[in-house]
Amino acid sequence: MTESFNVKLVEEMKYYTPDPEYKRNSWLGDYQKAYDEFLTDPDAFWSKMAQQLDWIRPWDAVMDWNYPYARWFTNAKLNITANCLDRHVNNHRRNKVALIWRGEGGAERIYTYQKLLSHVMRFANALKKIGVKKGDRVCIYMPLVPEQVIAMLACARIGATHSVVFGGFAAAALNLRIQDAEAKVVITADVAVRRGKAIQLKAIVDEALINAPTVEHVIVLRRKEPCLDLHPTRELDFYAVMDGVPDECPPEVMDAEDPLFILYTSGSTGKPKGVVHTCGGYMVGTYYTSKYVFDIKDNDIFWCTADPGWVTGHSYIIYGPLAVGATVFITELTPDYPDAGSWWHLIQEQNITILYTAPTAIRTFMKVGESWPNKYNLNSLRIIGSVGEPLNPEAFEWYYHVIGKDRCPIVDTWWQTETGMLLITTMLGEKMRPGFAGKPIPGVTVDVVDKNGKPVPANSMGFLVIKSPWPAMLRTLYKDDERYRKYWYTIDNCYTAGDLAVKGKDGYIMILGRADDIIIVAGHNIGTAEVESALVSHKAVAEAAVIGKPDPVKGNSIKAFVILRVGHQPSDNLRQDLVHHVRTTLGPIAVPHEIEFVDKLPKTRSGKIMRRVLKAKEMGIDPGDISTLEE
Ligand code: PRX
Repeated sequence: MTESFNVKLVEEMKYYTPDPEYKRNSWLGDYQKAYDEFLTDPDAFWSKMAQQLDWIRPWDAVMDWNYPYARWFTNAKLNITANCLDRHVNNHRRNKVALIWRGEGGAERIYTYQKLLSHVMRFANALKKIGVKKGDRVCIYMPLVPEQVIAMLACARIGATHSVVFGGFAAAALNLRIQDAEAKVVITADVAVRRGKAIQLKAIVDEALINAPTVEHVIVLRRKEPCLDLHPTRELDFYAVMDGVPDECPPEVMDAEDPLFILYTSGSTGKPKGVVHTCGGYMVGTYYTSKYVFDIKDNDIFWCTADPGWVTGHSYIIYGPLAVGATVFITELTPDYPDAGSWWHLIQEQNITILYTAPTAIRTFMKVGESWPNKYNLNSLRIIGSVGEPLNPEAFEWYYHVIGKDRCPIVDTWWQTETGMLLITTMLGEKMRPGFAGKPIPGVTVDVVDKNGKPVPANSMGFLVIKSPWPAMLRTLYKDDERYRKYWYTIDNCYTAGDLAVKGKDGYIMILGRADDIIIVAGHNIGTAEVESALVSHKAVAEAAVIGKPDPVKGNSIKAFVILRVGHQPSDNLRQDLVHHVRTTLGPIAVPHEIEFVDKLPKTRSGKIMRRVLKAKEMGIDPGDISTLEE
């Protein structure tokens, strides 16, 4: 990753200073003051945040650290949906809009807090009716519609652990996740609507269920006429399953450390990691960051453009903003449909005040030009955010000037599926530095260190580590605790995030990218090993190695080097066939953009493919130490 280390940028001290009104009016106030308050008494800091929420039983201790395991809010009891829904229904937000959904062709659906709660309770009762109990796993594979949000909250209501799988994953990837979680129920829809076309989700589920013995029922949201036929006993209609259920469903009493959800993320082996998040700490962490980083106020309309299938959607479409009592906007519309003005039109139409999106989207908009956003009135915006990959200075400048009109602060938020909540950003009102995400938020301690854990000098590259536990941290990896421990044992006494970073003289942190075999393509985590094993499962492929290549829009693109089996010849047809094979095994997000047929691959003596060498060669740079290279 050294190629992205831009010395000039690190040394250049360029800042943008936001209007002081932002700080004056913010929930947080002064960053340094809040940070010092946290350092003086971390427990008191987190306790103050947690006390803003409703608990069924209070905690005995704020945090109990038994390296590398943390328990937060020990012995406290709660239900996160009681905080995301009932708390507001019982106060002045009862009739406040919780969720606004926009679909294609002007379709719009609006849920007040009261209405959302009543849907969640009825669907929760339906899940109970078909035998779902506390601790059971439910897989949710749906498009971005309100029913997806309802399904997730209904699981949380009864203590079932949801495992949401992004609707862009193909059958084999879905099957792997269903099998690993041993899901009892799968909730899906007949179709997802994307750029005017219906994508047959249910057909993918059917294929994924061929070998999934734990699944007892499939609940299908039927959106299209004529209605899709369902199997008479195993498959149930999303709305019909609620027939005859009671309206009320009291929230299940959950221990703070009971699991809330599993979310699979790519790792550096072929098998995705089932990140486990728990109820109490996750609730406090997402509530705190939604309120104090995005500064959500009652009259804001908050739009996080992620899909609930990713952690960003879990934390900043659903749990965090709803815990705060926000009005959340969601849409199934893509940024380029019906035209490249689609999102700007939505901001104008809905008066969005806080926008949270990804650098890859920003770079795509830069490419099509500012004439598109300039057609619309974006004056409602007051804060704009970014997540998922480094927001490069050019993209920062464009976002700041063209979308934020030199007025809106940018919160470039660094975090991971594993961290559950954002951890590094530039808090509202602080000066912003293009290319740098910012500093640890109050409540969090981070550093940039060498492989022995020693802090590297300012302006030098090192590993990004988190030095103390935080409430929304992952508790384990599902059925793979040994792999969990590696996060804390790679460098002693701290959590190694797997990212390379630089800390400037001013303490601002620039994230450079992954230090391991994960490629971030358009903000999505893709393991090289996953793509390689998909390629090798094709009959013509003997061996494959996959690397990420810098891409001006997607951040990285995937290039595959493939050795063919004897009897197979390189051809364009075969290349297309391999692309198709990866698409149907893993899904469109993991498709290689380039495939090169080769006779051999650089390997270490122990046979490990040296992707670093392939990458260096591809980019015409020095591969560094290649003494272990054999071939
Ligand atoms: O490399 C970092 C990058 O995304 C990784 C985490 O990916 P995932 O678990 O899919 O979660 C993405 C959404 C939270 C990190 O290890 N990343 C995330 N945010 C940023 C980032 N890189 C630079 N700047 C960011 N703001």
